[in-house]
Amino acid sequence: MLIDTYGRVATDLRVSLTDRCNLRCTYCMPEEGLQWLAKPDLLTDDEIVRLIRIAVTDLGVTEVRFTGGEPLLRPGLVGIVERCAALEPRPRMSLTTNGIGLKRTATALKAAGLDRVNVSLDTLRPDVFKTLTRRDRHHDVLDGMAAARDAGLTPVKVNAVLMPGLNDDEAPDLLAWAMENEYELRFIEQMPLDAQHGWKRDGMITAGDILESLRTRFTLTPEGADERGSAPAERWVVDGGPHTVGVIASVTRPFCRACDRTRLTADGQVRTCLFATEETDLRAALRSDDTTDAEVARLWKQAMWGKKAGSGLDDPSFLQPERPMSAIGG
Ligand code: GTP
Ligand code: 5AD
Ligand code: SF4
Repeated sequence: MLIDTYGRVATDLRVSLTDRCNLRCTYCMPEEGLQWLAKPDLLTDDEIVRLIRIAVTDLGVTEVRFTGGEPLLRPGLVGIVERCAALEPRPRMSLTTNGIGLKRTATALKAAGLDRVNVSLDTLRPDVFKTLTRRDRHHDVLDGMAAARDAGLTPVKVNAVLMPGLNDDEAPDLLAWAMENEYELRFIEQMPLDAQHGWKRDGMITAGDILESLRTRFTLTPEGADERGSAPAERWVVDGGPHTVGVIASVTRPFCRACDRTRLTADGQVRTCLFATEETDLRAALRSDDTTDAEVARLWKQAMWGKKAGSGLDDPSFLQPERPMSAIGG
């Protein structure tokens, strides 16, 4: 079991498969991209499957989410999913993606055993999409989401980040569109995880702002606390149901006390938190010949024992982690 000193148990593993991305969202990375991890530094498909096997069979992990960068850029993804689906007990598996490659891969991913996907989409306007992501791919994302829905990778959840002056007037339109298309929309507060260190607390759109904007057009009723569990999204029932809308308010309403996550970076480091400043190197352990699964499991448990109470965002001494969001896996 991956338990920490506050009694939280990590049953949800987020695995970053690559730090690369085919978009350049302004709240994430600069126009020119970043210094990508070198190929030999990335875990191989075999190493990833071995770590997931250890997590699932020895450490009590029940949910596995593949992230990036953009995880659909990883050539071995379908094979990794297939091998993980054969594990005992079989973990539930999901993917967080920008959606661009989904049209091509949704059917194969479903057949390999993927359960569902979350797709990032911040705007319904192609021109705003181009400004926000610096790429003209709005249409590909919409097609990808529809392909995922049609392939049964459901519920398809949509993640939207609102940026002042760009898309902060779109919350009600996004919700109306999501309900029409049977997607589950969640808004995410912008977090200080951008490579450019451009985040400012007083410049961000808060959960309060988002709810206020949605209430100009919809009636929102809070969903019962029982239904939330350890999910980062707080949800509201829209106009009496059946649709809901979520807000992931990592900054203004942190949910660290219920956190059930452990993270693995594409270069094989365990992170206890998005905002952790320390990492534990499992890749080195994997690559030394005589390391047993039991020893890897011990290192992982030890890492999680060091998990801090919270993100530290409210501490005056808060420091943004060195690794940007795209290399952590969101
Ligand atoms: P499901 O609700 O199970 O579908 O997953 P999810 O919302 O956790 O996953 P997703 O990858 O779609 O993440 C949505 C947003 O939540 C991203 O911006 C993540 O960075 C953020 N998020 C995920 N886990 C954590 C966490 O442990 N702490 C914080 N603060 N944010 C998180
Ligand atoms: N703050 C909040 N969310 C972010 N994402 C990427 N960078 C940030 C940030 N700085 C979102 C993406 C994606 C999810 C995994 O994280 O839009 O939906
Ligand atoms: Fe790519 Fe996601 Fe970063 Fe956008 S937020 S640039 S989609 S990794």
